[in-house]
Amino acid sequence: MKIKLNRWMTLPAVALLATSCYKEKAVSKDELDDIIAHMTLEEKVGQMTNLTLSTVAIETDSSIKLDSAKLYDVIVKHHVGSIQNVDKRAYDLVEWHYLISNMQRFTLEKTRHKIPFLYCIDAVHGANYINGATLFPHNIGLAATWNPELVKECASITAAQTRAAGIRYNFAPVLDVGRNQQWSRMGETFGEDTYLVTQMGTAAIRGFEGGNVKNSTKVAACMKHFLGYSVPLNGKDRAPAYIPEIVLREHFLPPFREAVKTGVHTLMVNSAEINGTPVHASKYLLTTVLREELGFKGVVITDWLDIMKLYERHKVAASHKEAVLLCVEAGIDMCIVPFDFSFSDDLIALVKEGKIPEKRIDASVKRILTLKKELGLFDNPSIEEKNISQFHKPDYSLTAYHAALESITLLKNDSILPLSSEKKVLVAGPLSHLLSSLHGAWSYSWQGNKEHLYPDSLRTIADVFLTQHKAKSVVADSSWSKEMLWKQAKSSDAIVVVVGEPAYAETPGNIPDLAFDPAQTELIKSLAKSGKPIVAVLLGGRPRIIREIEPYCKAILMAYWPGSQGGQAIYDVIMGHFNPCGKLPFTYPRYSGSLITYDHKLLDEAVEIVEPYQYFYEFKPQYEFGHGLSYTRFNYSDLQLNHDTLSEGDSLVVSLTVTNTGARGGHEVVQLYSKDLVASITPAVKRLRRFEKIYLLPGESKKVNFKLWPADLAFVNSELKWVTEKGGFEILLGDLKAEFVYN
Ligand code: BGC
Repeated sequence: MKIKLNRWMTLPAVALLATSCYKEKAVSKDELDDIIAHMTLEEKVGQMTNLTLSTVAIETDSSIKLDSAKLYDVIVKHHVGSIQNVDKRAYDLVEWHYLISNMQRFTLEKTRHKIPFLYCIDAVHGANYINGATLFPHNIGLAATWNPELVKECASITAAQTRAAGIRYNFAPVLDVGRNQQWSRMGETFGEDTYLVTQMGTAAIRGFEGGNVKNSTKVAACMKHFLGYSVPLNGKDRAPAYIPEIVLREHFLPPFREAVKTGVHTLMVNSAEINGTPVHASKYLLTTVLREELGFKGVVITDWLDIMKLYERHKVAASHKEAVLLCVEAGIDMCIVPFDFSFSDDLIALVKEGKIPEKRIDASVKRILTLKKELGLFDNPSIEEKNISQFHKPDYSLTAYHAALESITLLKNDSILPLSSEKKVLVAGPLSHLLSSLHGAWSYSWQGNKEHLYPDSLRTIADVFLTQHKAKSVVADSSWSKEMLWKQAKSSDAIVVVVGEPAYAETPGNIPDLAFDPAQTELIKSLAKSGKPIVAVLLGGRPRIIREIEPYCKAILMAYWPGSQGGQAIYDVIMGHFNPCGKLPFTYPRYSGSLITYDHKLLDEAVEIVEPYQYFYEFKPQYEFGHGLSYTRFNYSDLQLNHDTLSEGDSLVVSLTVTNTGARGGHEVVQLYSKDLVASITPAVKRLRRFEKIYLLPGESKKVNFKLWPADLAFVNSELKWVTEKGGFEILLGDLKAEFVYN
């Protein structure tokens, strides 16, 4: 069947085709046991197998077509219960409907137990594999908004658009804590702080799942990548991490623990290894910690090719079969194989040889079928027509625009921004013309770098200046000579230079260090010679070292990967149509060799002033975690604690007054940090404990209250227990400080 890509003509036909062949049948929990009891081993193992779309379909530049022979092999012969993602590009809604409804129909018609199959996707910053969907800033930008409600809303729209395509399972959100800025997936994280990641990550899960994944606008979420993926020692993706358990529990486990409490349905395992143990082979992490300690009851899925890698890359298994054994014994339920039947073949053999009890298989299958049931697939596996009309809503792009606006972080401003509308602007820089650099990873393709796949309707930064600052903008052309560029710079009032990183994802985004691109550095230096003020817009998923170019720039905006409304949002911040309020969710390093997080230990700053050994290293990043300027000023005053002591079981109320002392309204993120003055494990210099984002009109004051409990001040001690030790604490809010004693 060749699908004609005319959305409005084809869509109802496909949807109807899908609906008409399904008999609705609700399945109770006990019925799941009954189904499992009647399944063959091969059928069960098929449910645990996840393959990629190319195993059942053939993609060309203009079409995606299911292949009935492949479908038969995968779904009927090998009983595969789930398929994922795209081959090389995003598909239209109508293409998705064609794929899902036909695969579903095939499954229900041709398999014995008629267990609906599950389609899975990476919709990590909007439904990035569905043409026409709304693409939001990546998580790092969303984290810079410090606005969990906005994160929830973005996730909610992502869920609605994903489900409208017929897909009910999303491999998101990333809950890795981004504590190595060089890591190529930094941009997919909510930054370096455990508390911020936890707040944002659980907000995303609430948006995706909404407490009821049967709802036809929701999807099952996947907390990933459990555990300790984000701090490879060499800074490269999927490289070994060495994390003492005390640190693992203090910084990396809490987002997952809270996500479990939020009810998240699934989890994906870290592809790499910690302390020499690949996480896929870690029974301690996947069973003892995850299941027994955190109480996770959902589905555990491997990452891409990772069972094979236990054998071929990690070398902890002498054969593929042994790798399967290790992984299943460790606790995985479903394997993203994703190209062949090696996992199922070996797993079947292992059970037949008595190495894995069939009961173990049943437990995984039960979790997978429960997920399918909770997603409503047994009730109604077809495309949910009533949700299709929800796919396009004008307020979706408004949310994307707001998210981009709130993410943009003004790092430096020497009285140049906002730019007056009278100023003649030269827009330059290699990224000013690129949609891919606004979107980053996972955008219409895995790497996000295929410029031709971006919809014509989207606008680059250069486009927005040209259309909205018409009479006063000149956009540099890459064909211009140096002389031409110089001439145009000379005749402008200001230069907006768009620089940073291209789009990349995962391992292809590996870099040797965080150095800024030399050609872009040269460009900024040569433009600066014109004497005209430079406004630098930084795009990218991680902070590249700007120490050398910073003095040449009057203003610097970090825009991360802001998504489809990024061009407009950046323009509106530069022109002052919106007062910037983004705050860095990571420490912006000054040197590639000093990747220190804000919550470091005192010894990360070496201070020795005794003669003759005078040495001094202060913590002086380019910009601190939580930094971000506004076009107005905020004054903090009247910090009060309701008690100067805190007792077990009690809470402490911290309050302060924030006043907008500038001339325009603005948002402020009030960040509360605590400092443990003395503790049995060396305390961090400070830790974020609470934050609140407020809006104040010029001259307006607001009292902000925070309630802290002893548990909010806890840390992991040498016995790996969370404790709050008695003694003195300091509360830090802006420049204000107050002390209290926990007794
Ligand atoms: C990534 C995961 C992703 C998976 C499926 C892997 O390469 O690490 O984050 O969910 O692919 O696409």
